Amino acid sequence: MKLPYLVQLVEVGPRDGLQNEKQPVPAATKIELVQRLQAAGLKEIEVTSYVSPKWVPQMADNHAVMSGIARVDDVRYSVLTPNLKGYEAAVADKPDEIVVFGAASEAFSQKNINCSIAESIERFAPVVQAALAAGIAVRGAMSCTVGCPYEGEISPERVGYLAGLMKGIGVQRVDVADTIGVGTPRKVQAAMEAALKHFDIDHVSGHFHDTYGQALSNTLAALEMGVWNFQSSVAGLGGCPYAKGATGNVATEDVVYLLHGMGIDTGIDLDALVDAGAWISEQLGRPTGSRVARALLAKRAG
Ligand code: HMG
Ligand code: MG
Repeated sequence: MKLPYLVQLVEVGPRDGLQNEKQPVPAATKIELVQRLQAAGLKEIEVTSYVSPKWVPQMADNHAVMSGIARVDDVRYSVLTPNLKGYEAAVADKPDEIVVFGAASEAFSQKNINCSIAESIERFAPVVQAALAAGIAVRGAMSCTVGCPYEGEISPERVGYLAGLMKGIGVQRVDVADTIGVGTPRKVQAAMEAALKHFDIDHVSGHFHDTYGQALSNTLAALEMGVWNFQSSVAGLGGCPYAKGATGNVATEDVVYLLHGMGIDTGIDLDALVDAGAWISEQLGRPTGSRVARALLAKRAG
């Protein structure tokens, strides 16, 4: 066991969390959410996506959101860019990091970005090159590293294959994503090990959706391998529009509670984070998806 003493969280609520909302969420609400999150101590925030508005209408306000945030120097703002068109739009809004997103499953790659894994890498390569030349960091999201809504179980070899392709085009770090939250600790560890054949421990992160309630267990399993970068979504918002039935990411509040309870530093103020989660849940007109937030809010009310 080599538990890290600190964990860096990438808050993906504004992007992964809100992309699946059926009702339009005003840009002003997204901007305020980002600002509340940075005020709570989040140092990395995935803000939006520069994808086709026909595919994901909720992210059509990417420019308004990115240009509306009162940015803080020590916060890294990342955005998703599936191709050069997305990159060119994104770069005008000065992201600190861009994210190319591929899948370990062929079927999911087709459904999500309308091309094969090999074609996606061909599209990503010039995006990665342009970003690195412009001094913008590059992350690669790897979907369906444990299971796929169309193909079922995904072997670690396929995760390794994708991680190798990502490394080959210059991606600096990768997210091992359990898109539909079917993973359990040993399977997530095997997917992580496959990614670690190509990236070192500082350059892999866990991105666990909580559909089956396994995300915290999977987080602990990854922590035990020394992984210290994770992604989570305030109030447990979200889901992927191309992974039907998949719920949101593990709630940031729940991960922070787990980590602080284990003596692992995050730099995050849990109370302020709970407030941000309660606020966005109220804006969306639904209860928070965070168990920890529910408990802490009930305790406050009592
Ligand atoms: P396509 O239809 O194959 O693209 O879509 P195309 O190049 O043939 O272009 C078709 C039209 O889209 C054209 O417009 C393009 O201009 C436009 P038209 O001439 O028809 O009016 N277009 C764009 N518009 C805006 N921004 C762009 C862009 N590119 C083309 N960047 C494409 C390919 C990738 C664009 C499409 O499939 C797409 O936008 N997919 C997005 C899917 C998505 O955002 N999914 C959710 C994020 S991934 C996720 O949530 C998983 C993650 O959280 C990890 C995990 O949990 O697994 C990251
Ligand atoms: Mg996701």
